[in-house]
Amino acid sequence: MNLDYENVVERVLCSGEEISERVKSVARDIEKYYADSDKKLLLLGILKGSVVFMADLMKELKLPLEVDFMKLSSYGKGAVSTGNIVIKAGLEKKDLSGYNVLIVEDILDTGNTLYWLVDYLKREHGAQDIKICTLLDKPDRREKPIFVDFGCFSIPDEFVIGYGLDYNELYRDLPYVGVLKREVYE
Ligand code: XMP
Ligand code: MG
Repeated sequence: MNLDYENVVERVLCSGEEISERVKSVARDIEKYYADSDKKLLLLGILKGSVVFMADLMKELKLPLEVDFMKLSSYGKGAVSTGNIVIKAGLEKKDLSGYNVLIVEDILDTGNTLYWLVDYLKREHGAQDIKICTLLDKPDRREKPIFVDFGCFSIPDEFVIGYGLDYNELYRDLPYVGVLKREVYE
């Protein structure tokens, strides 16, 4: 076992306790928003980054809900996402017109991925009511006019890992969100 596993963390940005409190608070907001709706609720998680957040959020929500996942990837130069999104794993359901769709995502960064996804869900799946719930929001990086409806934390423009977020597929299992040391990727 590599005991240096967490040595890549510059500092903790959101502790496990803070995340747990914010998840509870956001869950109450979501419950209020959907309480009087006649439509079914679908939580749509984006793999793989959303899995830890999704697991905690869905347990906290006191509403009847369904869960599905999509896997998306973005092609372009470097680590920044582009508008060129490819579906690696799609939705089971074709018709989402009878659903309130709540996209559950780890982080809204440039917004390119979710801007594309919202349009896709309307166009190809007939979704009408789509809201966005993210653990993290990096508003300084936004390139598209897209906003978080239910968000836990707004963070500065730094690369973060943990609680679902990875660096080269590692560190998703850390129970907190931390800033990755620059020396790791520079
Ligand atoms: P957009 O399209 O909003 O992309 O730019 C959001 C996706 O980019 C990834 N992302 C990160 N992943 N640490 C990560 O581990 C970060 O700091 C970070 N910023 C963006 C993430 O997959 C997200 O879904
Ligand atoms: Mg992601």
